[in-house]
Amino acid sequence: MFVEQKNLSIVRKANVTRKFNSEKFIIVEKPNVGWNDIGGLDDQMREIREIVELPLNKPELFEQIGIQPPKGVLLHGHPGTGKTLLAKAVATATNSTFIEVVGSELVQKFIGEGAKLVKEIFQTAREKAPSIIFIDELDALAARRVDIGTSGEREVQRTFVQLLAEIDGFRGLENVKIIGSTNRKDILDPAILRPGRLERHIHFPLPSKEAREKILKIHCRSMSLGKVDIGAVVDLTDCFTGAECLGELFLDISRFWLSFCFPAGK
Ligand SMILES: Nc1ncnc2c1ncn2[C@@H]1O[C@H](COP(=O)(O)OP(=O)(O)OP(=O)(O)O)[C@@H](O)[C@H]1O
Ligand SMILES: [Mg+2]
Repeated sequence: MFVEQKNLSIVRKANVTRKFNSEKFIIVEKPNVGWNDIGGLDDQMREIREIVELPLNKPELFEQIGIQPPKGVLLHGHPGTGKTLLAKAVATATNSTFIEVVGSELVQKFIGEGAKLVKEIFQTAREKAPSIIFIDELDALAARRVDIGTSGEREVQRTFVQLLAEIDGFRGLENVKIIGSTNRKDILDPAILRPGRLERHIHFPLPSKEAREKILKIHCRSMSLGKVDIGAVVDLTDCFTGAECLGELFLDISRFWLSFCFPAGK
């Protein structure tokens, strides 16, 4: 209801059952990322195929054996190590609707509406199944809270509790899967990692030398390298993430072409 500010008398009744229309605020797409667009990460690919692809593509297998597949999985590791890429690849392989939600946006942009939005996201996922709900920056929503004194904290807590309730509210065999992603697994509330929720965890390490070479070659498929030597970039990028290796490669290529087109002294 709307109230008059000074004496708090009711002025008009508000329309309380407004539908939030979550699709305006979240990304819903059918991605197109193939397994061969991913360099290295062989174990991570195998695991996600077992946890997400197999139950979505062959649910009858699980019914026959009588086991419930996991409802979701947590991807964790440094920024730029391929978590979002892998999630999109499994959505492509299962022809799923990919619903991408960013934890920090959910709690900052939608103050007072977070819990409602979570509810609608799951509803959309069911309507558009098979679906994958990808929650990026899960830690913004699901961090362990020591003090929930402020109203902002209470709001985050409400959104988080709604998320847990939604996860608990469907069976592993339904064709909706949740993929959470974080750089801070250490601060997550154990409630989200409990069996029946995001019980499987996949770690994304920094790429090895071989993996860096594969990543760079994948991204070079459609590029004119000029005289840039991939092997040299591989050697230069020890301890870099996949995204950082690509940054280095793009820099070297653009430097090469710039000096080629505008030679010094001319
Ligand atoms: N293993 C990889 N194979 C191919 N490309 C990669 C790989 N890792 C990273 N990249 C490249 O780096 C970009 C960033 O990767 P991605 O968005 O998947 O990282 P992320 O782990 O989700 O990071 P963040 O935690 O910041 O969300 C990708 O779009 C891709 O171009
Ligand atoms: Mg990401």
